[in-house]
Amino acid sequence: MPNTKTKKAGSAKKTNGHATAPQPNAQLEKFFVDQLKDIYWAEKHLTKALPKMQKAATTEELRQAIEEHTAQTEEHVSRLEQVFELLGKKVQAKKCDAMEGLLKEGDTVVEETEDGSMTRDVGVIVSAQKVEHYEIATYGSLAQLATTMGHEDVATLLNQTLEEEKEADKLLTEIAENNINWEAEQEGAAEEEE
Ligand SMILES: [Fe+2]
Repeated sequence: MPNTKTKKAGSAKKTNGHATAPQPNAQLEKFFVDQLKDIYWAEKHLTKALPKMQKAATTEELRQAIEEHTAQTEEHVSRLEQVFELLGKKVQAKKCDAMEGLLKEGDTVVEETEDGSMTRDVGVIVSAQKVEHYEIATYGSLAQLATTMGHEDVATLLNQTLEEEKEADKLLTEIAENNINWEAEQEGAAEEEE
């Protein structure tokens, strides 16, 4: 077994490709589990916020995409519960200030755009993509950390969710490009002519 003693600062970072799990680092393990609690809170919060976003959306296409992602989000919640179990930790949520803030902003966007307008959908898409990007950053870094810490099974689950978040983000971009942005732009032009 190679020497796995931790070197502090400077050259502490290991290059990829080490085959054996490093010695458990209690501080890092705690940080990792805290991060899981944070994203667990965020996902649970999202399962309640997404249906509201869905209702606020104008087009059927966007509503459907959000509905599908709500089902996926429920899956993400139970996947995280599996992660806690694999780590032998209690399933626990810890308030995620970032997600709370993103969703508050999303509420404001809905309040500030007209019901039934295409601008509303542009706003909902922007808000939803901000949420997706937060999740992509979280799952991406936590999956990588799980691998480094030797939790391959956990990394696999986190990567599965990561891929679904990326897909959801891509779909939102497609919906925006396939006319919603353009139609919102036309909506503005029509208003100016009045
Ligand atoms: Fe998710």
